[in-house]
Amino acid sequence: MSDMVIDYSCVMAEAVGQENGISEESLTALQKRASGIHRKLALKRKSGKLPFYELPYKTAEAKKIVSAAKRIGKNFTTMVVLGIGGSALGTTALFNALRHCRHNSLPPKKRGGMKVYVADNIDPDSFAELLSTLKLKETVFNVISKSGSTAETMAQFMIVTDLLKRKIGRGWKKHLVLTTDVKAGALRKIADENRLKTFIVPEGVGGRFTVFTPVSLLPAACAGIDILALLDGAQAMDKRCASRDILKNPAYLFASVNFLLDTTKAKKMIVMMPYSGKLYSVADWFRQMWAESLGKRRDYDGNPVFVGQTPIKALGATDQHSQVQLYVEGPFDKVFCFLEVGEFSQDVAIPEEFKELPGVSYLGGHTLARLLNTEKRGTQYALTKNNRPSMTIKLGEVNAHWLGQLLYMLEVATAFAGGLYRVDPFDQPGVEFGKEYAYAMLGRRGFEEKRREFEKEKSEGRREV
Ligand code: PA5
Repeated sequence: MSDMVIDYSCVMAEAVGQENGISEESLTALQKRASGIHRKLALKRKSGKLPFYELPYKTAEAKKIVSAAKRIGKNFTTMVVLGIGGSALGTTALFNALRHCRHNSLPPKKRGGMKVYVADNIDPDSFAELLSTLKLKETVFNVISKSGSTAETMAQFMIVTDLLKRKIGRGWKKHLVLTTDVKAGALRKIADENRLKTFIVPEGVGGRFTVFTPVSLLPAACAGIDILALLDGAQAMDKRCASRDILKNPAYLFASVNFLLDTTKAKKMIVMMPYSGKLYSVADWFRQMWAESLGKRRDYDGNPVFVGQTPIKALGATDQHSQVQLYVEGPFDKVFCFLEVGEFSQDVAIPEEFKELPGVSYLGGHTLARLLNTEKRGTQYALTKNNRPSMTIKLGEVNAHWLGQLLYMLEVATAFAGGLYRVDPFDQPGVEFGKEYAYAMLGRRGFEEKRREFEKEKSEGRREV
């Protein structure tokens, strides 16, 4: 198998019943709209308005990133990424999928790349703990912010700059690499004024669509990930996504199935459940992609619509012992998307111990991969028997090429789903309110009036026990 496969048999009405599954006819009936959306996306792409589509083909830039990563690796052993949301989740997904699960603790030769930490939160305990364990002389900080003003990232950046100035002294600038907009934002201004090394977030590519840009490619290359193979996988998927036929285009199929289940069968939640620990962070990345892109109050024409499926992440087999009871017997409000791996890069044989005990001896002679994939099939079987729709995305292996296919498919699916829901999948107006609150309450200039409003509301109607 060299192409990613989506098995959607178990979302169909034949498998889970009319009430919870979709019919062949409903998919066929959607094709006319799908063709219209396809045309619009293709036109926008052609006119350069959707640059995320072209990122897999930026191989010359990727080669430059590989060379830059090699240079960085000669001077430093460790990279700390400072970024949040789209500026962090792609990197974490790549790193956790494609590097050894103890990468940062391995000796350099076995590691095959720099240590990479992603500091994507401002929890003071964990950030202080991370900083206190770094060898600063060997550490480079990759500060990533497209807007160049996100409070969390800027706060981390200020803390790190101060630390570097105090502990490193004159050479502090060498320890910073900034990834930001080519001209806008405070981070760009700081970079230009201090002549700091920068990488560019391409114009028109929103945070959550940046996994194939320097935002994720630079730290990935520094960690030793084959970023050209990643782009190669994305290119292969782009070719498959050229079809307007929802039964041939995996991204359109994924979006259409979820859209129909959400809007006609009340499946308001999608649970992404990899049966692979390495792919767990892909579910995290997808959570942001699906939620921030499609969870919208207004449609294209400004009408209130309040749409969007809630993405949830779960891990097989771990969450069989935590969530699956609810999934199998609780409310009929979810669709499940399993990620299944054909060949694990290593397998572990289960030895034939305790032969006299039938309760455990049946396991002997099998392998962990067999056990895991059998458990996946068992969970899916239980869901199907209980009329819960599910699909499986099958990857041959967990490697850069397969991951490139998967991530790109989910990006295109999101763009297409925006068309189905008639919302803009590339904005996130709902995130702004929380940002404004923080700006106002922390005293950012220009937000004085907002602060007065917030303080008034805060003092009214408080209930506490
Ligand atoms: O997808 C998005 O646009 C967001 O999640 C952003 O990536 C996130 O808010 C961080 O923004 P920035 O990169 O501007 O710091």
